[in-house]
Amino acid sequence: MKPIQYAIIGGTGVYDSGVTSFQETVKTEYGEIEVDITEIEGNSIVFLARHGKEHGTPPHRINYRANLKALQELGVKQIFSTAAVGSLNPDYQTGALVLLSDFLDMTRQRPQTFFEGGSEGVRHVNMDDPYCSNLRKQLLETAKLQDVRFKGGAVYICTEGPRLETEAEIKMMKQWGADVVGMTNVPEVVLAKELGLCYASVGFVVNMATGMESGSIQLDKIDEMVARNKEKVSRLFMDVFSNPLDQQGCKCSDSIVSL
Ligand code: HPA
Repeated sequence: MKPIQYAIIGGTGVYDSGVTSFQETVKTEYGEIEVDITEIEGNSIVFLARHGKEHGTPPHRINYRANLKALQELGVKQIFSTAAVGSLNPDYQTGALVLLSDFLDMTRQRPQTFFEGGSEGVRHVNMDDPYCSNLRKQLLETAKLQDVRFKGGAVYICTEGPRLETEAEIKMMKQWGADVVGMTNVPEVVLAKELGLCYASVGFVVNMATGMESGSIQLDKIDEMVARNKEKVSRLFMDVFSNPLDQQGCKCSDSIVSL
C-alpha cells in the first residue's frame, strides 16, 4: 500500500457523508488498531476514532501508543485532530472553535512515552512547539478563506478524567494560564512528536468549565456542538490537504535529544 500522508483523529464527520472508505487493522507492538482509509480529492487519508468506533473507550483507557504507532506504520506524516473541550476563558463560549497552541499536563496514570531506555539509551523530546506551528499557520490561513472562525489560540490543560474538574481546580488552572480543558490531548500530542510527526488540534468548546457558569455542567450538548462544527472542520482539513504548505523549516521530525 502506498504511504498515507494525512491522518484525522477524532470525529467521523467526513466518512459519514457518502465517501467510500475501507477498513484496515494495523498491528503494532502496543496492540491492534482499526482505522478507515479513504481517498478524497486525490489524497489518501486515515481516520482514527480516538475512543473507538462505538465511542466505548474512556479517555484514561485509550491506547494512545498503539494509535500513534499505527498511524506511523501507515506512513502518516501529519495528524489533524479534533477535541471536545470545556472553556475556562470567557472569550471562548460554548460553540466556539479554538486552535490549540500549547498544553499543561495534569494526567496521572497513562503511558506517556515510547522511550523506555535500554539499548536506545535515554531520549527526550523537545516541547517548544508541541502543536506544529506550520500546520497551525496553514489551518489559520485556510480558515480565513472559509467560514471557519477560530476564536483564537488556546492553552489546553489535560486532566486524567473521567471525572470532571472541581471549581477550585478550574480556578487554579485559570491562574496557570489554561484556556480550555480536556482529557485526551496528552499524551497524544507528545507521542506524535516522539515519532517525528506533525500534529495540530482543533478544540470544539462544548461547555463552560466547572464554575464558569452557574449550575452543573451538562454534556448533553456535545453531540449538537460537534455536529454543528464537524462538517466545517472536515472541509477545512481537506482544503489544507489539497493545498499543502511548504513544510520546509519544520522541526517536528527532528525533536529528539539523546543523552
Ligand atoms: N472538562 C474536561 N474535559 C472536557 C470538558 C470539561 O469541562 N468538556 C469536554 N471535555
